[in-house]
Amino acid sequence: MSSTTDASAGRARISARTLRKDRWWLSPAVQGTALVILLGYVVVRLFMRSYYFVPEYGYLTPLYSPCISTLCTPGSSHFGTIFGDLPVWIPLPIIVFPILLGFRATCYYYRKAVYRSLLQSPTACAVAEPAKRYGGETKFPFVLMNYHRYFFYAASILLLVNTYDAVLAYFPPGRGFGIGLGSLILTANVLLLWGYTMGCHACRHIVGGRLKHFSRHPLRYKAWTLVSKFNGKHMQWAWASLISVTLTDVYIMSVSAGWIPDLRFFN
Ligand code: FES
Repeated sequence: MSSTTDASAGRARISARTLRKDRWWLSPAVQGTALVILLGYVVVRLFMRSYYFVPEYGYLTPLYSPCISTLCTPGSSHFGTIFGDLPVWIPLPIIVFPILLGFRATCYYYRKAVYRSLLQSPTACAVAEPAKRYGGETKFPFVLMNYHRYFFYAASILLLVNTYDAVLAYFPPGRGFGIGLGSLILTANVLLLWGYTMGCHACRHIVGGRLKHFSRHPLRYKAWTLVSKFNGKHMQWAWASLISVTLTDVYIMSVSAGWIPDLRFFN
């Protein structure tokens, strides 16, 4: 008599897609919808080429930072310009988009969200997937998932640039020190991005991996313990930081376009 756990017996032959009675589809549906909306917004903004900088207060949206083309609005290129004119089909923040997309798309949490909600592979535990074969992550584009650690390095440099932008937002040109709602929003956004980036699984491995004895590496153990705390809430940090990048951009676009004034608290 064969065992029900015998791998050679294959999957149980059940015609129903699943026998689950709970709302297993709800979480993937919500996450997939939110991802499509936010990604669509970001893509539209990256190609807009306008309303990304507020010269009066030095606010630069994280979606255009660093802006390194000669087409960038004067004052917005905090790190100089490397590129000349870029054709309209290339986003002005030419290095930001591939790094942001690569870092988030290969993130362990977003992989789970995308596989479940958009690729249906599978949608939930104990729910049959439409695909007949499983190809793993050995072919393009899925093979790029193996390069997450390199996207982490690039995104960390980008985050340092965003942090610098947030500090600059407290020093509006020609005014000295000043605080506006925009500077506070940029700061909150950077803190959320730090929380997300520090909790990265690659970061955790870099900090505390490949060790045989934590007792011989007390500093790395402390760093690993700290990173692990962020890592434990990685999904929450992922969503909070993605939403905050979007809202920060919405605010800066609104001020830059003159739809709303910046709320100034000091100077
Ligand atoms: S695992 Fe999510 S950012 Fe690295």
